[in-house]
Amino acid sequence: MKIWVPSEAAAEVLADLPDVECVVFDGRGPAPKGAEEAEVWIPPLIPVQDTPELMARMKRLRLVQTVTAGVEPYRPHLPQGVTLCNARGVHDAGTAEWAVGAMIAVLRDFPAFVDAQRRGEWAYHYTDVLADARVLIVGYGSIGAALERRLDGFEVEVVRVARTAREGVHPMEELDTLLPDADVVVLLVPATAHTAGMVDAGFLARMKDGALLVNAARGAVVDTDALVAELVSGRLRAALDVTDPEPLPGGHPLWNAPGVFITPHVAGSTPASTRRVLRLIRSQLLRYLAGEPLKNVITESY
Ligand code: GLV
Repeated sequence: MKIWVPSEAAAEVLADLPDVECVVFDGRGPAPKGAEEAEVWIPPLIPVQDTPELMARMKRLRLVQTVTAGVEPYRPHLPQGVTLCNARGVHDAGTAEWAVGAMIAVLRDFPAFVDAQRRGEWAYHYTDVLADARVLIVGYGSIGAALERRLDGFEVEVVRVARTAREGVHPMEELDTLLPDADVVVLLVPATAHTAGMVDAGFLARMKDGALLVNAARGAVVDTDALVAELVSGRLRAALDVTDPEPLPGGHPLWNAPGVFITPHVAGSTPASTRRVLRLIRSQLLRYLAGEPLKNVITESY
């Protein structure tokens, strides 16, 4: 069985599995030959440009196992009969850690202090603080739960919102009433037709003055122009690991908007995620080979 894997490390963790032959395609350069023979594709972290064409060429494809939580590059183009699984859980630690770090960076004014340090300037001033904040997690799933665990100890109040309301988790329909009371709004929703442009001018207008928007989801969830307008007015602040467009081109107004802290989609790009993804790849392939039910199968309700 031919499996396309995104790295030598992934090939290594599968090396002892019987009848498995790995082809490494890390997304840099053209795809290797033999796509029509691949039964399983584990695409690289950064989606390849011609994903739909490549999947269409994979005539024997049965399983796409992503190394990301997000599946938007694959889901709309998935050939009939192919199972799609995501990497739920793999990026919880890295992304939750990034979100806490980004909140603290913005609230404690770290970017301004770094600028002052570069100038050799002792720029003493009071800053905002995370303590006592109300943190609204929009898209409360496994990353949200990991974030909540990490926030425990910062003396904040966490409010949870998700598409599926459950005990202690508000439905999305209540966002309008929850937004005005949040000091920090963390976006963790998947990129779907429901969430595209969800954070529009109206959403942002409902956020309280001085509130912080943290986007660890996808750039397309936020209307960039509307966000730039709020940042330029000085009313809101933002910490963004994802942007629309992405990569953010040089000269884009978001780069130099006041109150914004931007990182280049790195929340999950750490050795913690690499270790977890290799474990997931091995366990999923063992299940697949044994004909057992797979984990993290993406269904209609995703
Ligand atoms: C990262 O962006 C992911 O989807 O896991």
